Amino acid sequence: MTYETILTETRGAVTLITLNRPKSLNALNSTVLAELTDAFAKFEADGSQLCAVLTGSGDKAFAAGADIKEMSDKPAADFYIEDFFAGWTADIVKKVRKPWIAAVNGFALGGGCELAMMADFIIAADTAKFGQPEIKLGVGPGMGGSQRLTRAVGKSKAMEMCLTGRMMDAEEAERSGLVARIVPLGELVDDAMKTAATIAGMPPLAAMMNKEMVNTAFETTLDQGLIAERRMFQVLTATGDKDEGMAAFVEKRAGNWKGR
Ligand code: HXC
Repeated sequence: MTYETILTETRGAVTLITLNRPKSLNALNSTVLAELTDAFAKFEADGSQLCAVLTGSGDKAFAAGADIKEMSDKPAADFYIEDFFAGWTADIVKKVRKPWIAAVNGFALGGGCELAMMADFIIAADTAKFGQPEIKLGVGPGMGGSQRLTRAVGKSKAMEMCLTGRMMDAEEAERSGLVARIVPLGELVDDAMKTAATIAGMPPLAAMMNKEMVNTAFETTLDQGLIAERRMFQVLTATGDKDEGMAAFVEKRAGNWKGR
């Protein structure tokens, strides 16, 4: 598949995916969805790739939302019949078991904020702005914003943001737990790629299961989550990389991971 709206490159074991519609502030249309789904599927299937970074081109926006121009004339019945937006969550979140990071370089609004929140974590530029302004268009979030934002920052802030459409700046987003870290805009992609390389340098099965463990916290009760964590821990103890990791520690050397 030749991409029109995204760019992809690999650097070592890290895949960099860049939303590339800067004139529309990287608005997310159906072509972006199809291309992102394809790029993430390739990343997932490529055994040499262990972590990914998603960012936006230009220094203004990660993504200013779903493409309003594409949606403005669409009849309501079509949104329902197509189960509009279902693909984003089903294909990008559920099917990608390897870790990936959103590097938010500016506006992350509506679907842009929701896409960033689908990542395993967010690193924000100091210029980043997050918001769910869909109410101003007469709708509401449709790609998980009301659910993921609420889990990330709590009811009061999520409710205020959804009801007023106000944006949160990077400082507030970090204070509220929405983003892991803030870095200067000029250092954002390098920093995210370095962080991704650190993750890619970990035992790969352990990285995937650590991701699954943390995500389980959002899906289940504490008791069930604790059992799931324990089982995954026990499975990891059966891997060669666990023997290698413990031997490497004792021998004071770096581990040589096999992903088995
Ligand atoms: C389509 C968009 C867009 C979007 C920006 N553009 N956001 N096109 N969909 N979501 C386009 C503008 O039309 C404009 O194109 C160009 O990008 C530059 O944007 P400006 O508005 O001129 O820039 P600026 O004045 O700096 O304002 C930046 C902004 C503003 C504050 C981010 O663009 C904005 O409010 N955008 C919409 C944000 C939003 O509502 N997001 C949620 C979308 S809805 P031209 O051709 O004029 O130069 C959603 C989910 C559900 O995500 C929706 C169901 C209906």
